Amino acid sequence: MENKLPDVKVKINEKKEYYYPVFIGENLIQNAQEYINQYTKAQKLLVVTNKTIMSLYPQTLKLKNAEFIILEDGEQYKNFDTYKQIMEKALELKLERQDALIAFGGGVIGDVTGFCAATYLRGIDFIQIPTTLLAQVDSSVGGKVAINTSYGKNLVGAFYQPKLVLSDTNTLKTLDKRQYKTGLAEVVKYAFIEKTAKCNFNFFEFMEHNTDKIKAKDPQTLKEMIKICCEIKAKVVNEDEQEKGLRTILNFGHTFAHAIEKATNFTHFTHGEAVAIGMRLAFDLAKSRNAISNTYYSQAISLLTKYGLTYVIPQNITKEELISAMYFDKKVQCSKVRFVLPKDFCEVELTSDIEAKNSLG
Ligand code: NAD
Ligand code: GLY
Repeated sequence: MENKLPDVKVKINEKKEYYYPVFIGENLIQNAQEYINQYTKAQKLLVVTNKTIMSLYPQTLKLKNAEFIILEDGEQYKNFDTYKQIMEKALELKLERQDALIAFGGGVIGDVTGFCAATYLRGIDFIQIPTTLLAQVDSSVGGKVAINTSYGKNLVGAFYQPKLVLSDTNTLKTLDKRQYKTGLAEVVKYAFIEKTAKCNFNFFEFMEHNTDKIKAKDPQTLKEMIKICCEIKAKVVNEDEQEKGLRTILNFGHTFAHAIEKATNFTHFTHGEAVAIGMRLAFDLAKSRNAISNTYYSQAISLLTKYGLTYVIPQNITKEELISAMYFDKKVQCSKVRFVLPKDFCEVELTSDIEAKNSLG
């Protein structure tokens, strides 16, 4: 394979000359070994994946000197037990620092594998091969890695960047409709924050005009869409890797979403579905404060509707439950809930001047 140029280069803060590549397109998995040889010095590889992915892609990821850990499928396995299992396997294989852990799967696999990579020998190379839309546009880029605890989601983790991201759009063909739409919620989120990220891809219009192709998973359109999302995320992460300021915009809709997920015991909605409701609530709140025009409000709701991102909070969940769940958000500061709200077309801002109890209309 001749050296290909990355689709996106992710740079982090001061280390301006260093970047890691994101490759996006069809049939990348089949050539994974060449990409790994080009971007790492790994001799041994430990691939972490799950049963669902292995049953769909049993022979696709052909690698030299690779061992596989095949986990059960599910968010509940993003935990300490899985962390221990992966670490013990890495120790048994005597992986050295220049070897690599590979996450082959969705956000669950990416997060737990990344956290193992961050802590094994205080840091071993890490490669993301994301297979869900959510992972390709969000979790595989930017270096947030974590496991869940009984106290809450993603509470033990690190910022640890991968060496290489290979987003093979062919894998999205086997994603079911629900998981695909879950990813689309995070995609639409980028349209709502683009200008605050100081990007100018006209992504809102792109999403408005390409609905049919995106729904049909047209490969070229998917590649373009994922590339823009990764560009926007890379721009934000370059400026603020550790979420001290700008990166909070990537949490647009998430204060409400996390509360909805918690109040429904993490069983009713996927993360993306909760984010879709959260974005809708953020638009409602901004409109009620006259922070955005009626025109933008209607355009935004219409975009969510075009992608079927309209969900309803179950009636048995009370306002009080949602408000109390909001205080578990990681953006809470000095016991105040902070919201990322729309302030203009494709612009958002972080605000802490709203009482949580007044945020739900
Ligand atoms: P997931 O990893 O659970 O994958 C969703 C489902 O799709 C699973 O059943 C999985 O086995 C299946 N699957 C994966 N690839 C498939 C394919 N190609 N074809 C068919 N089925 C496939 O969920 P997700 O939505 O990818 O990720 C959610 C996780 O990501 C959560 O744990 C969340 O906290 C985390 N997350 C992390 C970040 C970050 O920045 N690190 C950002 C957003 C979300
Ligand atoms: N998914 C939000 C972030 O990476 O910051």
